[in-house]
Amino acid sequence: MTVTTALLQLEHVSIALKKTPSRLLVNNVSFAIEAGKTTCVVGESGSGKSLTALSVMGLLSKQLQLITGKVLFNDGDAGVQDLTLLDAESLRKIRGAKIAMIFQEPMTSLNPVLTVGYQIGESLTTHLGLKGDALKIKIASLLEMVGIPPSRANSYPDELSGGQRQRVMIAMSIACEPRLLIADEPTTALDVTVQAQILKLLDALKTRMNMGMLFITHDFGVVADIADNVVVMFRGEIVEAGTKDQVLNNPQHPYTKALLACVPDAEGKKPLKPIDYAWLPENEVAQNVQVAL
Ligand SMILES: Nc1ncnc2c1ncn2[C@@H]1O[C@H](COP(=O)(O)OP(=O)(O)OP(=O)(O)O)[C@@H](O)[C@H]1O
Ligand SMILES: [Mg+2]
Repeated sequence: MTVTTALLQLEHVSIALKKTPSRLLVNNVSFAIEAGKTTCVVGESGSGKSLTALSVMGLLSKQLQLITGKVLFNDGDAGVQDLTLLDAESLRKIRGAKIAMIFQEPMTSLNPVLTVGYQIGESLTTHLGLKGDALKIKIASLLEMVGIPPSRANSYPDELSGGQRQRVMIAMSIACEPRLLIADEPTTALDVTVQAQILKLLDALKTRMNMGMLFITHDFGVVADIADNVVVMFRGEIVEAGTKDQVLNNPQHPYTKALLACVPDAEGKKPLKPIDYAWLPENEVAQNVQVAL
């Protein structure tokens, strides 16, 4: 039996396309998340952040394959389980109830023909068996918690603003009080004021429910706001990991230093600049067409 005190522990996770199993898109990724703590995963576009998150949920698309690795999750009731070994039915029971995920684009995750109240209620009925008045009361309290008037339960997604839709997604994700919340760039599409509100809300919920959070972002401002620990990914590998203070104030890897050097300062005195890849061997630089910040 595997022993871990963490809420979630990834051990040597490697992912590749089934047709090219030797070309790893995620390479030997290991890190842990404790209950009540937030781990931010940062790195440029294509570095493997989303694939890592999807592997935790057992939601890798059909073309992809987990080549090696364990995803150890402390379920509470069932103890520590390796999620990669569970069948589809057992994973479905965990998803939404014990582990929830917020995706980047709320419109693609919400069903346009169902009211938001109905959609928030679905997992409460499925996982907790709530019905009738008890269900209505719970939906209202969740909407209130994310700052949406409970009367909006009868609205359809396209009747809400982008920020409200994202908050509905958050209400859905926390409905069953998951032990772990995975948020994949949940605020990237929002303006800074709404982003700040949502980060504050997630941080408060984390503390209140002692929830662990895996938070994917490009934005070091967000990291500074909410992270306890930081994992930096580059081309499918972790190049640096540590506490927020270690990674932001004393980065060790040249890629982390280069990423941090691109962050504009609050007064706007430091101009935005592309990532410096001078530390890479010359023939590798051309592969980096995407700049994250
Ligand atoms: N279904 C798929 N089929 C083929 N390649 C894929 C698939 N999903 C992801 N990839 C590739 O795997 C790599 C990692 O993708 P991933 O989505 O994890 O990146 P990311 O770090 O989340 O990037 P972004 O910041 O742009 O969201 C990329 O090179 C991507 O093109
Ligand atoms: Mg992604």
